Amino acid sequence: MILVTGGAGFIGANFVLDWLEQGGETVINLDALTYAGNRRNLASLAGDERHIFVHGDIGDFALVSDLLARYRPRAIVNFAAESHVDRSIHGPEDFIQTNIVGTFRMLEAVRAYWHNLQDDAKQNFRFLHVSTDEVYGSLGKDAPAFTETHRYEPNSPYSASKAASDHLVRAYHHTYGVPVLTTNCSNNYGPYHFPEKLIPLMIVNALAGKSLPVYGDGQQVRDWLYVKDHCSAIRRVLEAGKPGEIYNVGGWNEKPNIDIVHTVCALLDELCARSDNKSYREQITYVTDRPGHDRRYAIDAGKIERELGWKPAETFDSGIRKTVQWYLQNREWVADVQSGSYREWVEKNYTGRAL
Ligand code: NAD
Ligand code: TYD
Repeated sequence: MILVTGGAGFIGANFVLDWLEQGGETVINLDALTYAGNRRNLASLAGDERHIFVHGDIGDFALVSDLLARYRPRAIVNFAAESHVDRSIHGPEDFIQTNIVGTFRMLEAVRAYWHNLQDDAKQNFRFLHVSTDEVYGSLGKDAPAFTETHRYEPNSPYSASKAASDHLVRAYHHTYGVPVLTTNCSNNYGPYHFPEKLIPLMIVNALAGKSLPVYGDGQQVRDWLYVKDHCSAIRRVLEAGKPGEIYNVGGWNEKPNIDIVHTVCALLDELCARSDNKSYREQITYVTDRPGHDRRYAIDAGKIERELGWKPAETFDSGIRKTVQWYLQNREWVADVQSGSYREWVEKNYTGRAL
C-alpha cells in the first residue's frame, strides 16, 4: 500500500486516479477536506477497494501513527498543504499550521514508524514530499531557470511555509536517515483545478460572463505543466529517485500571464463562442497587483530528465485544450465547488481591486 495525503485536492486527486488507473497498489488517502478538498474529484473510485479514504489532518500525530501501524505503507506521498498564494496573503496562519506544523508532526510519526521497520522494508521505504518552485523566489528576466541548487528565497507566506517544510524533510533525512525524496514543481493546470487559481478562474469567469481579472501588467511569467505530467514525474521519482535527493519538475513552458489568458479566450471562442460572437477577450480587466508578486518562475528540469529519464507527455497547446474541454464538459463540478465559501473568497480577493 501507499499513503497519499491531500488526495482530494487538485494534484493529489489526479495522482490517485492515475495511480489506480495504471494498476498501482491500494492507496490510503488522508485528507482534511478543507475548502480545496473535494470528494467529488474521486467519485469515479466509488466501490473500488483499492482506495481507502480517511478524513483527517496530517498534523494529527496519533491518527497518522495509527494509520501507519494499521496499513504499513511502503511509501508516503505528501501533497497535503494550503496552496494558494493570495489566501496566504489574506491569512497566513493556516499555512503555518498545515505546511509547517502539520508536515513536522507527520514526519515525527513517520520517523517512529520507519525506525521500527525491518531490513528490506526499512531500506525500500520512501517519503516523497511534493513541493513547489516558488521556494526559490523570483527570477530576473534573463536569469537561468531554477536548478536544484538554487538558493531558497521564498517571498510569500505560502512559499515561505513550503520552504520551511522542505527544510524539515531534508533534516529528517540528514539527522535520522529517513529515506525522503523532494520534488519542486512549477505551476500545474488541468482537470479538477480549483477555480481560485489563474487558469480555471479565467475559464469559469469567462463562461459566466464575468470579468477576467489580470493582476498588474499581466507580464509575470509562470512555467506551466499539465497535471498528469506532474503525476508521472512523481511516480518516476518514487520508483527510481535517490533518497535525500531533490528533483525539479517542469515543462519548459514559460509564459506571461496575459498570453495564458489570451490562449484560454481563443480556445473558448472556438469551442463555446459567446452568443454575441465577440471574443471573450472583451472581458479582460487589469486589476491591482498582488502584493510582493513574484515576477518570474522557470524550472530547469534537466536533472530529472537526465537521471530518471522523465519527460512531459503534453505540450502546452495540447494540455490547455484538454483542460478547457474538461471544464466545458464538467459544469456540474464547477457549480458544486463554487457554492458556499467560494463566493466569500471571491468577494474578499476581488472587491475593490478594479483599477
Ligand atoms: P490543493 O489546495 O488543491 O489541495 C490540497 C489538499 O490538501 C486538499 O484536498 C486539502 O483538503 C488537503 N489538506 C489541506 N490541509 C490538510 C491537512 N492539514 N491535512 C490533510 N489534508 C489537508 O493543492 P494542490 O494544488 O493540489 O497542491 C498539492 C501539493 O502540490 C501542495 O503541497 C502544493 O504546495 C504542491 N504544488 C502545487 C502546485 C500547483 O500548481 N498547484 C505546483 C507545485 C507544487
Ligand atoms: P496562481 O494560479 O494563483 O498561481 P501562483 O501564484 O502560485 O503562481 O497565479 C498564477 C499567476 O496568475 C500569478 O502571477 C498571479 C496571476 N493571477 C492573476 O493575474 N489574476 C488572478 O485572478 C489570479 C488568481 C492570478
